Amino acid sequence: MRITMVGTGYVGLVTGTCFANTGNQVTCLDIDQSKIEKLNNGISPIYEPGLDELIGRNAKASRLHFTTDKSAAYKNAEIIFIAVGTPSGSDGRANLQYVLAAAQDIGDAIEASSDTREKIIVVKSTVPVGTNIKVQQAVASRTSKTFHMASNPEFLKEGAAINDFNKPDRVVIGAHTKYAADKMRDLYEPFVRQGNPIFIMDIPSAEMVKYASNCMLATKISFINEVANLCEQYGADISEVRRGMCSDKRIGNQFLYPGLGYGGSCFPKDVLAMISMGQDCGHPAELLESVHRVNQQQRDVFLTKLESHFEGADWSKLKIAVWGIAFKPGTDDVREAPSITLIQKLLEKGATVTAYDPVAHETAGEVLTDSITYANNAIEAINDADALIVCTDWSEFKNPEFELMKDKMATPVIFDGRNVYRRSTMREYGFVYHSVGRAP
Ligand code: UGA
Repeated sequence: MRITMVGTGYVGLVTGTCFANTGNQVTCLDIDQSKIEKLNNGISPIYEPGLDELIGRNAKASRLHFTTDKSAAYKNAEIIFIAVGTPSGSDGRANLQYVLAAAQDIGDAIEASSDTREKIIVVKSTVPVGTNIKVQQAVASRTSKTFHMASNPEFLKEGAAINDFNKPDRVVIGAHTKYAADKMRDLYEPFVRQGNPIFIMDIPSAEMVKYASNCMLATKISFINEVANLCEQYGADISEVRRGMCSDKRIGNQFLYPGLGYGGSCFPKDVLAMISMGQDCGHPAELLESVHRVNQQQRDVFLTKLESHFEGADWSKLKIAVWGIAFKPGTDDVREAPSITLIQKLLEKGATVTAYDPVAHETAGEVLTDSITYANNAIEAINDADALIVCTDWSEFKNPEFELMKDKMATPVIFDGRNVYRRSTMREYGFVYHSVGRAP
């Protein structure tokens, strides 16, 4: 099939590349000239394991193209995916300006095209329920030709996106015409050969599946963080509590790891968008308002541990090391990363911060001022440090040389925001150890 992907952000790029990899002809369109130039030179603008190689292979086979030329991109497309950004506005609402601008361009292209095949326009961006109708209206305002609408939410996890795309738990397609439903099913058939389902449903339901899924996962995280905080107060150990809970199959064992709260470009934005959807229709999403609040507070709860430990100390004399800046392992994404909030608060207090992340120094540099130092490796970061904070559970932090760490640090104090270490190990090596939901 001939596919056009509008937007070469994280979702558009992974989706377009994976479709090309099953033999489709894919053209990725973006207004950002420098991004397209990079891609045409075989460089991925984002860090995602396996993506560079897949882009290179499919571009070489002339199945994957990158352009800024709208008319060329839309000309022969059978299916057009809109995968542009929907950033949160200051009120938490998803900003639809890029989605609707793309819809108008598509309408113009359909009107100008001599191709007689009816095009399918698929909204891939995460958009509030009801947006597909707005997109349909925006396209229809520019053309009188027939076209089909579909909604196709994505469930990719950063760092595992290629695998998630190639082996999805499920594919969700919202479509109101048989033509669109059949074509979309054909497109996804190669990805569900193991028997995983393709769900075809009405468009508003498909739009809602995405929000409901992410908000459910965010709720699990805030729930376990709340329980973790209570564990600390009552002398219980969240790791034991978690084990006991998760053996109940109805509860399950995923997304119940306590920590510094969820970050990234999806959960915080989607929870806020769902809250706005509730406000807009007069049914406040009270549970999600709490989920959001608990998540924000989780960073402060952690900071309070540092403040108590260093009570009375002169912060301007403290050197704090931070391991991990990315919002989770496997990505260089620092959007809404708890590490950023913590580092900013430490800097405000006057501390000196040295951070190390295997891949996120560049992205962190775009957000943080240059008043922190980036170390070349984990051990360099803790040199002379009064405390280490573990913000991201990258594999390389899991089994460090504790003896060497103790030698390097000014005082052996670890604040573990991801419960990476065993308390018994910490005791053995003589560290002062603070974690989440477990007594020091
Ligand atoms: C999330 C969803 O998992 C994807 O299914 C969805 O497609 C994507 O959002 C999206 O909407 O595009 P992602 O943001 O890449 O994917 O990251 P996750 O792996 O879900 O982690 C999100 C956050 O939750 C991270 O900050 C992570 O550290 C935190 N987390 C996760 C916990 O604190 N505890 C857990 O038990 C699990």
